[in-house]
Amino acid sequence: MNYEFDTVIVGAGGAGLYAALEASRLHGAGRTAVVSKLYPIRSHTGAAQGGIGAALGNVEEDKPEWHAFDTVKGGDYLTDQNAAIILAEDAVRAVLELEHRGLPFSRTPEGKIDQRRFGGHTRGFGEAPVCRSCYAADRTGHMILQTLYQQCIRNRASFFDEFHLLDLLMDGNRCCGVVVLELATGQLHTFHSKAVLLATGGFGRMFQITSNAYANTGDGPAVAARRGLPLEDMEFFQFHPTGIRGMGILITEGVRGEGGVLRNRHGERFMTRYAPTLLDLAPRDMVARAITLEIKAGNGIVGDKSVDDYVLLDATGLGKAVIEEKLPDIAEFCRTYQNIDPADTPIPVQPTAHYAMGGIPTDLDGRVLCDGAGGVIEGLYAAGECACVSVHGANRLGTNSLVDLVVFGRRAGRHMAQFAANADLCSVNVSDGAADVCALLDQLKSGSGSVKPGTVRDRMRTVMMEKIGIYRTGSQMREAVAELQQLRDDFRHIRIEDPAAAYNTELVEVLELRNLLDLALITAACADWREETRGAHARDDFPERDDEAFLNHSLAWLNGRDVRLGTRPVDLSRWEPKPRVY
Ligand code: FUM
Repeated sequence: MNYEFDTVIVGAGGAGLYAALEASRLHGAGRTAVVSKLYPIRSHTGAAQGGIGAALGNVEEDKPEWHAFDTVKGGDYLTDQNAAIILAEDAVRAVLELEHRGLPFSRTPEGKIDQRRFGGHTRGFGEAPVCRSCYAADRTGHMILQTLYQQCIRNRASFFDEFHLLDLLMDGNRCCGVVVLELATGQLHTFHSKAVLLATGGFGRMFQITSNAYANTGDGPAVAARRGLPLEDMEFFQFHPTGIRGMGILITEGVRGEGGVLRNRHGERFMTRYAPTLLDLAPRDMVARAITLEIKAGNGIVGDKSVDDYVLLDATGLGKAVIEEKLPDIAEFCRTYQNIDPADTPIPVQPTAHYAMGGIPTDLDGRVLCDGAGGVIEGLYAAGECACVSVHGANRLGTNSLVDLVVFGRRAGRHMAQFAANADLCSVNVSDGAADVCALLDQLKSGSGSVKPGTVRDRMRTVMMEKIGIYRTGSQMREAVAELQQLRDDFRHIRIEDPAAAYNTELVEVLELRNLLDLALITAACADWREETRGAHARDDFPERDDEAFLNHSLAWLNGRDVRLGTRPVDLSRWEPKPRVY
């Protein structure tokens, strides 16, 4: 079937929903489609537990300028400074708008939106931690999804739930729609539109231990890369310091924001040695490295398996009442997965692959860039974790993902709606667009190959975890590139055994694996190229930041079995890069 809309948004997390809200407000009922492989309120935005950063100053003095500076310094100066200033200034408006739209924030005793501390957020340009994270207990992302979804329904955006993105419809440099698979029927559909926004989220499932949901398979960036578009800063993948050991399930940084501390097996609060000013509230890259070094030095607690060594997150000083009121989901996770009560027993944690700083390059209005000189693809937009508006640089600060979604999701939604209001549907032949996809599905279903998807998937995750993890070296990264190339070759011999049309989860998982393999190869190749240590990219063989050679965004194009690399300048218009001390 072919649908026609003014604007099509792929993905129904915070960025997609905010963009849909803006577009549907401008176009009126029924002209904006949201196509999502999940039911919207199950999107991974719901996993952002601890809050959304905004310098409201409700609990102590704060300023957007300090927030912008922290974002730039937290990103190890690879953050585009013009983007960070927009993010910090617009965050204040965005949070108040969410409040007015019905988001049930936690409150101070006087009834203001309550705020807590979070890693890397400071007052006075790094003097001390500041309360900047506005939160709804530890369900902030969930509440954002609920609020935005309700508003989209009110504005009559059209939702197509459980539709999986397969390809973009392109006419030269113009995007004209998307090709999708309807999970309930196995049918292919085309959505022909004046503008498309990709908001498909992250791709942490390429790692063995991750906080990411099963759905986070990078469908948008992978489709874009196969269409010949570059991806930006893919070498920077953030490990959140506190995942539940062995499982990766997120334990929010809000636990440390409320006063929880990390301890090694001697009971020592080891962050005093790594970040004397911010301690446990240093940025995530530093805390994740500190945990790794403690474990390597024999100061961790030995787990059951080789990937399972851990440290302790001690929240016992918070008291049961604070935990149950401000961190109720965390308390529940601890009871369910560890059989402990965090009010009495420290939580076993280890770093978990959490967030992609890189993705589809965009300008400040979400328009997708096609080169390092600012050229754009007409009618194509991206926002949220799948995009790289270059606001997180080499390391994102906690709470800034939710700010990114609402600030840049809204900007992209507005721009695409205005673009669509003045554009015609282009005359691409939509059945041609689906032909390649049909051929791929036929090949997967009828192929004579013998490779099992699970074997390729497991190997990819192990390679990424062991060779493109928190610490990296050139020789290991080159091994990873070669192994991932081989796994992509093996993928061509994968066979699907389930012939079902309806809810063929085997087929969908194989399509997702293809996306992850492409993105894993690009990530590994970019990481090998960047011969320095910056933010979340820490190299044993190049332990220093090298601004002379690498103060640039990377751009990577998928080129058959290989990855072609280029660069794009960083916006440094406000602050001069300095050594990062916390
Ligand atoms: O720790 C957390 O609550 C995660 C938040 C984030 O990634 O921003």
